Amino acid sequence: ISLKPYNTFGIDVTASYYARANTVEKILYAINFASYNKLPIFVLGGGSNIIFTRNIEGVVINPAIQGVQLQTDDEQNYVFRVGAGVVWDKFVEFAAENNLGGIENLSHIPGLVGASPIQNIGAYGVEVKDTIVKVEAIEVSSRKLIEFNASECRFGYRDSIFKQELKGKVIITHVWFRLSRNPSFVLNYGNLAEEVEKLGEVTVQNVRKAVINIRKSKLPDPAELGNAGSFFKNPVVDADKYNALKSEHPDLNGFQVSESFYKIPAGWLIEKAGWKGKQVGRCGVHHKQALVLVNHGGANGTEILELSSSIQKSVKELFGIELEREVNVF
Ligand code: EPU
Repeated sequence: ISLKPYNTFGIDVTASYYARANTVEKILYAINFASYNKLPIFVLGGGSNIIFTRNIEGVVINPAIQGVQLQTDDEQNYVFRVGAGVVWDKFVEFAAENNLGGIENLSHIPGLVGASPIQNIGAYGVEVKDTIVKVEAIEVSSRKLIEFNASECRFGYRDSIFKQELKGKVIITHVWFRLSRNPSFVLNYGNLAEEVEKLGEVTVQNVRKAVINIRKSKLPDPAELGNAGSFFKNPVVDADKYNALKSEHPDLNGFQVSESFYKIPAGWLIEKAGWKGKQVGRCGVHHKQALVLVNHGGANGTEILELSSSIQKSVKELFGIELEREVNVF
């Protein structure tokens, strides 16, 4: 089966088997099928953060569990248990329609709910970790159902235990989120406050709309131009390095992450290195946001990976900074 429709880069690789599993039982069945046939398994959600460089000789499992269930409510919060296969932005839309706060800044992020804790999705000053109560998963080796509370998930910037030691070892089935009935808004990122003001009152709905407007103006739509969002993480450098860079380039907008460390926009580094808008063969660097690599049509994973290595090399030469990939590579 071709995986082309199942990854937003539109890379045409194949998988021996593809199992869309919409219950825990069906996921277990797919795991058993793979183990009986001595095949590896590979979990694929929305395919919006992955680059395939070869065919998968194994069983691709797509956890498609649906459902948004209210678990508890009090004066402050509602807690929902959401199936891993729910489209992330549908859940954000549902929250906004019900005036529940916490994830509106994460509007319009592609992918499924089950993937949201894996890389701790984040945008416009908010990370999903701040709303996650717990994660339910299947442990592949034992077929047991296990739970992780928020601290056990070991969330970090675009990071969690699911991307580290548990990579490939568990399959997330449900995520529990705490949403606020009395939202407090995070509007201090970039021009978000301005964009909200243009729409009128500060409400969950308007923050969602403003975020969607900003994202649409910068980020390519995967349906039109294959991509996987940010290709690299924003690197963190120490204050000395940051100050040296800043005095040479006053247009650098770093973000202080702790007393002596700054996060710098990888998009800025890539643009300064001359890559913005460049096309190399069938792939390239987006012309509006240099952190996004794009497939102009027919590019394979290796070509995109090679482009990303060239970018890493030139940023390293020019600034002495290592860019780390944010996208997963198979
Ligand atoms: N910039 C440039 N040139 C570019 C792109 C960016 O100079 O081509 C500079 C600008 O100074 C801009 C700054 O970078 O002010 C920040 O740009 P932007 O607001 O677009 O955010 P980002 O740091 O490039 C991160 C996330 C995005 C998220 C946005 C908004 C990472 C790796 N990426 O990008 O997440 O949407 O912030 O919060 O942290 C994703 O993970 O796929 C993703 C899109």
